[in-house]
Amino acid sequence: MTQFGDYRAFLTQFLRNYETTGAVVPSGRALASALCRYVGTATSPQRILEAGPGTGAVSRRIVERMRPVDQLWMVELNPAFAAHLRSAFRTDPGLSAAADRCHIVEGSVQALETDGRFDLVISGLPLNNFPAEDVTSILDAYSKLLKPQGVLSFFQYMFIRPAKMMVSTGSERNRLKGVGHAIEGVLGEHELAREWVWSNVPPAWVHHVRF
Ligand SMILES: C[S@@+](CC[C@H](N)C(=O)[O-])C[C@H]1O[C@@H](n2cnc3c(N)ncnc32)[C@H](O)[C@@H]1O
Repeated sequence: MTQFGDYRAFLTQFLRNYETTGAVVPSGRALASALCRYVGTATSPQRILEAGPGTGAVSRRIVERMRPVDQLWMVELNPAFAAHLRSAFRTDPGLSAAADRCHIVEGSVQALETDGRFDLVISGLPLNNFPAEDVTSILDAYSKLLKPQGVLSFFQYMFIRPAKMMVSTGSERNRLKGVGHAIEGVLGEHELAREWVWSNVPPAWVHHVRF
């Protein structure tokens, strides 16, 4: 799969499914690297869950950092992205070498069994696009999917929510406020570290959280 193919697939899905895709282009390398900060850093094998892999911009970086003892599960809601990714794991040498340790699950992350199985959850979901109740249930699912000392890494585009709040009214403003409460509630209690990724388009914060 070429980089051009990834960009074309991303733009098509952005136009068809704006709310769940949430971006016009895949994440840049600096954002992907920040999201993968804890991959390959433990002394024991890691079980890693990536929510919302899309065309695999972050998955590629995870695979580069994974050790032979680590395993990756990718859960993707959009069947077109899941098919794109399955094809990439067959044809792209950087991914196919690790294909036996990587598993693609088609569906929503909220529907996974939340049984504390994962050392790391890496989220690519555009939380600021969702209803506040969905953001609460997604963050709750992440906390239950992680082992007790596990780490969640997720991103938000910088200043987008406050900027949107300034120009929105009524139910959209209330939605954004609810999303802010859900995210800030988790960060206030559990944030381990925050990275500022200025070189991404648009610039993003990466939050690392231990529940
Ligand atoms: C902003 S894109 C990120 C894609 C990729 N991680 C990247 O950084 O380029 C969001 C991705 O999350 C997926 N997605 C949205 N809601 C989801 C959900 N509830 N469960 C699993 N995947 C979801 C979308 O289909 C899309 O692939």
